[in-house]
Amino acid sequence: MDSNEFIYGFTLKSKIKSLFSSQICFFVFFIMDKTQILTQLSAISTKDELETWYQTYLGKKGSITLAFKEMWNLSPEDRKIKGQELSSLKSALEREYQQKADTFLNEEINALLEKDLVDISLPVKKLEQGFYSLLVKTRREMEEIAQSMGFRIEIGKEVVSKFENFEAVNIPISHPATEMHDTIYLTKKDDRGENYVMRTHTSSAQNYVIKKYWVPIRVVLPWKCYRFDEMDPSHDTMFYQMEGVYIDKNISVANFKYVIETFLSGVLKKKVEVRMRPGYFPFVEPGFEIDARYEYIDPKTGEKQLSKRLELLGAGMIHPNVLRNAGVDPDEGRTGFAFGIGINRVTAMKYGVKDIRYFTSGDLRFTRSFA
Ligand code: DAH
Repeated sequence: MDSNEFIYGFTLKSKIKSLFSSQICFFVFFIMDKTQILTQLSAISTKDELETWYQTYLGKKGSITLAFKEMWNLSPEDRKIKGQELSSLKSALEREYQQKADTFLNEEINALLEKDLVDISLPVKKLEQGFYSLLVKTRREMEEIAQSMGFRIEIGKEVVSKFENFEAVNIPISHPATEMHDTIYLTKKDDRGENYVMRTHTSSAQNYVIKKYWVPIRVVLPWKCYRFDEMDPSHDTMFYQMEGVYIDKNISVANFKYVIETFLSGVLKKKVEVRMRPGYFPFVEPGFEIDARYEYIDPKTGEKQLSKRLELLGAGMIHPNVLRNAGVDPDEGRTGFAFGIGINRVTAMKYGVKDIRYFTSGDLRFTRSFA
């Protein structure tokens, strides 16, 4: 009788156990041949076979498990002796099973390792490295310089009320100044029943930041603005501006000149000198147009030279009405300046780009050439 026959016999026995005496049950134990079971195990060559083997002997319905149940039919003395025999058989089989299972596992791991083997001597496939667009690069640099000078960074909202975009910064709605900005209107209306607008300048956030941070305040707002403009090499419907707002006790034009020269020198990485011309902007009084030039070393002669003057930004001392609109009493000695600088323009100047539409064209050849 081989072990299979034994198992069948045993199973049969368990089904009709009431018909058998405990002696027959023990006959079954005795014929359970450890060597045969182990020979079967060593012949196994797949995981599935191993699992079947396990279920046959050690599983819930396996013969060893059933044999344990059968022990209740024995006399107490026999139960003790045979119980020990059965236990040692069970542990021996479990040990062997585990060894075999480990062998399979190791084989599997080795096969996987073999498959995933990395040949470190192969030439490396070059990874494409990401890079910032020129506008982002410049904006970040400008933010860093401003931060180092104690300014906070705020983005503000791109969609604002007509009040924020115009009246809050002293541009009466009916005033022709509104036409300076070809505004993009949205159909959605605000509480006053007026259409929201895409902000035409970052100055629209002055009111909001002054109320938010209160005075004294030092904030720059570097983000998108929109105008309903014809696109040409120096105009785009979306562009980046950076607004600066600085309010404190007794701030003067001289303070502004120092701050803006320091800021521009940092951004352009050259010593910048500014010239202030009178300019009209409703939210400042007096207002200035700022031209900048910088020192550079002439590559031919090796001598220090001054660049041509370039109109770079608008600025001025914050109008008392703007302060009042934000709840600040201009008679309490708080004064300040504001400036608005085109990030696209600074970028074009910094990198010698002739057409600002390249910045947002999505043409990677352009961006890559500056990476
Ligand atoms: N908001 C102006 C524009 O978009 C720029 C500007 C000029 C901002 C003068 C200022 C300023 O804060 O004082 O053209």
